[in-house]
Amino acid sequence: MKHLLKLLDLSKDEIFEILELADELKKKQKAGIEHHYLKGKSLGMIFQKSSTRTRVSFEVGMYQLGGQALFLSKNDLQIGRGEPVQDTARTLSRFLDGIMIRTYGQDEVENLAKYGSIPIINGLTDFAHPCQVLADLQTIREYKGGFDGRKLTFIGDGANNMANSLIVGGLKAGMSVAIATPDAYQPDKSVLDFAKAYGDKLLVTSDIAKAAKDADVLYTDVWASMGMEAEVEERNRAFKSFQINAEVMKYAKPDAIVQHCLPAKRGQEITDEVIEAHAGEIFDEAENRLHAQKAVMVKLMA
Ligand code: CP
Ligand code: NVA
Repeated sequence: MKHLLKLLDLSKDEIFEILELADELKKKQKAGIEHHYLKGKSLGMIFQKSSTRTRVSFEVGMYQLGGQALFLSKNDLQIGRGEPVQDTARTLSRFLDGIMIRTYGQDEVENLAKYGSIPIINGLTDFAHPCQVLADLQTIREYKGGFDGRKLTFIGDGANNMANSLIVGGLKAGMSVAIATPDAYQPDKSVLDFAKAYGDKLLVTSDIAKAAKDADVLYTDVWASMGMEAEVEERNRAFKSFQINAEVMKYAKPDAIVQHCLPAKRGQEITDEVIEAHAGEIFDEAENRLHAQKAVMVKLMA
């Protein structure tokens, strides 16, 4: 594993190795055991979109690993004034030991990896959010003990980065995955092609009850992702019923957990009541961004 660009690139074994290391690093951090595996190393963090969790967890994670992180916003980099990604990648490769990038097109992340000579980590694109799903898998395993025979249901925008990555990560980990989404918002073709090998372990439907039936994990995300601001009204109409609420919880198993990558829009994709009732696992999920990403950085940069 040279980069983390999307979960489609990782084998099942690689995913489980990251999860094992994430658990180990979590224990070490909680016990106050020093784990400076990246002493003297530097991570550049390029942000073309906003972030709370990703920025803070990468920056703190790098510090806990004995290295340092540089926050590079589009306003500060020459990339914002049109310097080509090929040149940015080759220049930054001379200074840094790794780059985390949050941006729009998946091609920008792939190009950094192609032209640079250091590990590239995808911190969210329109297509994928692999770091989030690694943290989600760590959390699901903590609550459910494993993945085999478990059902992960996502309700919302089936075409967004979270749905795409949850399908790939969920299936590779061994769960069955159901996506409840309007017909006009289907997952990416590359993801659906990948899922063909898993047969009926993937269900994509507009029937929320069917998708949520006997779910072990109910997952949702905002109806309009970053960069889709112009479509907000249209999306509010299209996704009106695609919400995790008390009614939908009844279809799931009684001990189902709720996951949300956050930030959440209460009253839209999830009710205030459900988010508060399941805040324990939702904020464990947020915390696990730190541990899962530290594992990714150690795997790629140590
Ligand atoms: N879930 C997530 O990536 O959060 P941020 O946008 O705050 O980084
Ligand atoms: N789908 C959301 C996820 C945010 C972490 C977005 O891209 O805005």
